[in-house]
Amino acid sequence: MAGNANLNAAAKARKDEFYTQLTDIEKELRHYKKHFQGKTVFCNCDDPFESSFFKYFVLNFNRLGLKKLIATCYAGSPIADRRLSLSDVTGGEETKNRPYKAVVTRVYDTTGDGSVDMLDVAELFKSGENELTELEGDGDFRSLECLALLDEADIVVTNPPFSLFREYVATLMEREKKFVIIGPKSALHYKEIFPLIKENKVWVGMTPISTDLHFMSPKSYIEQLIESNRASGYIIDNGEYMTRSPSIWLTNLDIKKRHEELILVKRYRPEDYPRYYNYDGIDVSQTANIPCDYTGMIGVPDTFLDQYNPEQFEIIGMATDVPKTMVHKVVGDEIQYLKDGVCIWSTPYTVTERKAGNSLRINDNGLPGKLPYSRILIRNKHPEPPKEET
Ligand SMILES: C[S@@+](CC[C@H](N)C(=O)[O-])C[C@H]1O[C@@H](n2cnc3c(N)ncnc32)[C@H](O)[C@@H]1O
Repeated sequence: MAGNANLNAAAKARKDEFYTQLTDIEKELRHYKKHFQGKTVFCNCDDPFESSFFKYFVLNFNRLGLKKLIATCYAGSPIADRRLSLSDVTGGEETKNRPYKAVVTRVYDTTGDGSVDMLDVAELFKSGENELTELEGDGDFRSLECLALLDEADIVVTNPPFSLFREYVATLMEREKKFVIIGPKSALHYKEIFPLIKENKVWVGMTPISTDLHFMSPKSYIEQLIESNRASGYIIDNGEYMTRSPSIWLTNLDIKKRHEELILVKRYRPEDYPRYYNYDGIDVSQTANIPCDYTGMIGVPDTFLDQYNPEQFEIIGMATDVPKTMVHKVVGDEIQYLKDGVCIWSTPYTVTERKAGNSLRINDNGLPGKLPYSRILIRNKHPEPPKEET
């Protein structure tokens, strides 16, 4: 039992060992510049000695017009062996795996070399103009110490532990924080996260959902992936081993693409769009093919969220969804997911006429043998009038 518990804890920690590349942060955050002026940014899962989030904000501190930057990290957080050149700031003391808090209020060229770099940042910590101190507790984002810092912050930006993603987002929502964060792609389907997307409280960031983000990970993890032949778990990027974990950016800060109207060129013709045989709606497997004049319910893939403009479309719900491994049963036109026999999440399911034969088989015991595709159910708020027959 103790052995199993250790294995589970190790597997859980593994899920959290994906360290974000500076280039991916730059690509996303260049769209948010106006939001940062005069604000306090908190990176609450970020070791100031190695986080690219911390590096991004500290080096762009003046360009963004930040008021304050705070970064805290978790005790025992495994590092990706890519320390920033700050290690000597604590007087040669071993900083590895210790929970630190960095508070930055000033950044300038201390060395006189004409630009601001990490040497200047180190110098400003050494001189005490900025603060680098050990936390009292373990740096858990849920600790009172870190929650007090969260209360002080205007915007939270990080890649948090995926194993605690639901709780992490709940904490930010409860405290009404603005955020730009990385999360697992599967979070779109979480019963705690999808309703936030549906209610326009959270949306997908600028980086397209289909982007294959590559992360830095500790050597030991990469070696393990190579040894166990898990080729889909890593990739060689510019000569370096990087790990892969299907991820997306999520935010509640306004971004341009939410106001861009999706240009719809197709008109509805019954022969072009399969209908669901168990639901009053049509299936559209590619967002670009949404018919401009269809007034009813439309099922679209997750990638629709990249182009979702809430003034143009309304999200009605989600039809079937992960985790498909959960115990489920069909009740009317819903699939209910069960835990200890109790329904903990229900969702409509949609089956197209074309695939009715094989995409959802109801077994004798009422359980579906194979689940149909997951679809987001939407409605066009301003459909064009149908074309007059000539
Ligand atoms: C996915 S990694 C990302 C690290 C960093 N934000 C980045 O993007 O490079 C998540 C980090 O959260 C840390 N972590 C795990 N549990 C935590 C907790 N309860 N509170 C704060 N951080 C935690 C992990 O150790 C890990 O360093």
